[in-house]
Amino acid sequence: MTPPWLPLGVYVHWPFCKSKCPYCDFNSHVRDGIEHTRWRRALLAELEHAAREAPNRRVETMFFGGGTPSLMEPETVGALIARTRQLWDSAPDIEITLEANPTSVEAAKFAALAEAGVNRLSLGVQALDPAALRFLGREHSADEAIAAITTARAHFARTSFDLIYARPGQTPEAWLAELERALALAGEHLSLYQLTIERGTRFFAEHQRGGFVLPDEDEAARMFELTQARLEAAGLPAYEISNHARAGAACRHNLIYWHYQDHVGVGPGAHGRFAEGDTKCATRRQSGPENWLAQVEEQGHGTVERSVVAGQDRVEEALMMGLRLAEGIDRALFASVAGADPVEALGEARLAPLVDAGFLEIDRSHFKATAAGRQRLNALLERLIA
Ligand SMILES: C[S@@+](CC[C@H](N)C(=O)[O-])C[C@H]1O[C@@H](n2cnc3c(N)ncnc32)[C@H](O)[C@@H]1O
Ligand code: SF4
Repeated sequence: MTPPWLPLGVYVHWPFCKSKCPYCDFNSHVRDGIEHTRWRRALLAELEHAAREAPNRRVETMFFGGGTPSLMEPETVGALIARTRQLWDSAPDIEITLEANPTSVEAAKFAALAEAGVNRLSLGVQALDPAALRFLGREHSADEAIAAITTARAHFARTSFDLIYARPGQTPEAWLAELERALALAGEHLSLYQLTIERGTRFFAEHQRGGFVLPDEDEAARMFELTQARLEAAGLPAYEISNHARAGAACRHNLIYWHYQDHVGVGPGAHGRFAEGDTKCATRRQSGPENWLAQVEEQGHGTVERSVVAGQDRVEEALMMGLRLAEGIDRALFASVAGADPVEALGEARLAPLVDAGFLEIDRSHFKATAAGRQRLNALLERLIA
């Protein structure tokens, strides 16, 4: 039987970390004495609100992101999972991911997190080289990360870990050697990000005053190409710019974003996008943890922005998401979530030169960026939606 309702992803944001990494501009904060019971109550209250925002859906995925959700009490994670299952219909094979940092303290919680219902763990390993871990300001050693990967694989059916490459002083050869070690440890999925310098981070200031130099553009491009080729040969091809998986092992939650399907966001700074009639409703919660908590306690949710995404804006948002995928955009699915066929909405005249230049491929069922197009996706998008 086909599912009765539209698919839904539920995102829960935990905004706290033990320390702030110098490269990170996520909504993450260091605080002493977090009141866990209060936070549990507030997250549950906003979850109830999300179920009123987007009712009559079937939850396909949940994702606990951060910050560092492995610092949550497993009781809180379990309560949110149980309440989600009561509030909506849920898929029998629901995917429930949690992001974890690989310290030994956190690895000791993996059994309880699995018991709470998490069935996929994504570990922020970042590097397997001790000097690089120090540079990245991480709290764990390479040995601790390796032990955490082993523990994670014993407790969760599905695991992934993240690495950051194109670091200062890293050569393509050194990255390839690190990648070999990663492949020997990996399960079904790896996320491999090029280091980016984000405004407002400690690295931004250090980089500006010449504290370190990043690999140049050609070298970074070479590392990206080596990554694609090596992972493809190892049976984990890229299904998105930075994400690699064995067949059938892609992160279904992130696919909901990239397919522009419905998702609700719970917790500080969380975003939601869900169909409302012929438009998409966009929501954003208060990002400061204390402000969010106060607002939820006062009015049951921390929403600070609620708007409608319609017409060309909706097409453009869906396009920015879908072109990240290696398989590209399924034109029929796109029409159902964005309200228009991408080729009709953009017009042949704008597309033809980009197809001729080898950045786009279009056929009756799909619309996709080629590997060359994905490598310069921002420039391609500028041409498409200018
Ligand atoms: C929300 S963070 C990770 C969660 C977890 N707290 C951790 O640090 O492992 C998601 C991932 O984004 C990546 N990331 C964050 N900032 C980055 C940056 N400036 N450049 C490249 N990758 C970055 C890291 O690999 C990180 O694991
Ligand atoms: S990378 Fe992870 S641990 Fe580090 S500050 Fe960001 S969210 Fe926190």
